[in-house]
Amino acid sequence: MNKSAQLVVTLDGPAGSGKSTTAKEVARRLGFRHLDSGGLYRALTLALLEEGIPLTLWADLTDEDMNGLPVRVSSEDAEFLIEVAGRRVQAELRSPSVTAHVAFLASLPAARRRLLRLQHIAGEKGGLVADGRDMGSVVFPDADVKVYLVADLHERARRRLEESGISPSNVEVERESKVIAERDRQDSERELSPLREPSNAHLIDTTRLNFNEQVEEVVALVKASYTD
Ligand code: C5P
Repeated sequence: MNKSAQLVVTLDGPAGSGKSTTAKEVARRLGFRHLDSGGLYRALTLALLEEGIPLTLWADLTDEDMNGLPVRVSSEDAEFLIEVAGRRVQAELRSPSVTAHVAFLASLPAARRRLLRLQHIAGEKGGLVADGRDMGSVVFPDADVKVYLVADLHERARRRLEESGISPSNVEVERESKVIAERDRQDSERELSPLREPSNAHLIDTTRLNFNEQVEEVVALVKASYTD
């Protein structure tokens, strides 16, 4: 196997910076697999909500409790499929209630320990583009290419709303900006694996880039890393 097929590429950044969609397309163009780590935190959150465990008890859950939650990841071609309670989940992971509780779940050490193992297994063979908040800093600190994506807050809010099929008004963009800013605050201020620009990361500001330009910048960085 040539070495480029074993590379690990990480994309970190705040909410709505376009990490997941960019990572997915970069992986497709390079023939790598895409790991959406936010999806794993969302799946654990969905499992807790479905099990009806009150929010006030989440911080007391042990490693055993977290390991017992019915979240599975399997690998199929280019995709990691996420299952909660035996069914494939996708749209449900983005529901308002999951989005409202995921940053709290992600601040809990037992939740992060559970998912760290899953992420390391997914990355074992390389050929991976992983996106999240701590991919380049904590989960894959020796990644071959690290990218940190940023974009203006209002632009991120506008993109988020447009993704869900809305042509947003200024008032809606303002409201969504507040929701995103609050999640960024929680993700940046938590003690464990806070959102940070990883050392040796390439910083890309996507505010004025279109989707194809973002993807091309990352693909070019990856290609440069194995032709250097
Ligand atoms: O990327 P996405 O918005 O789906 O992530 C959902 C949440 O999962 C983030 O707000 C963050 O709290 C958590 N997360 C994390 N570490 C990661 C990926 C996501 O803490 N690597």
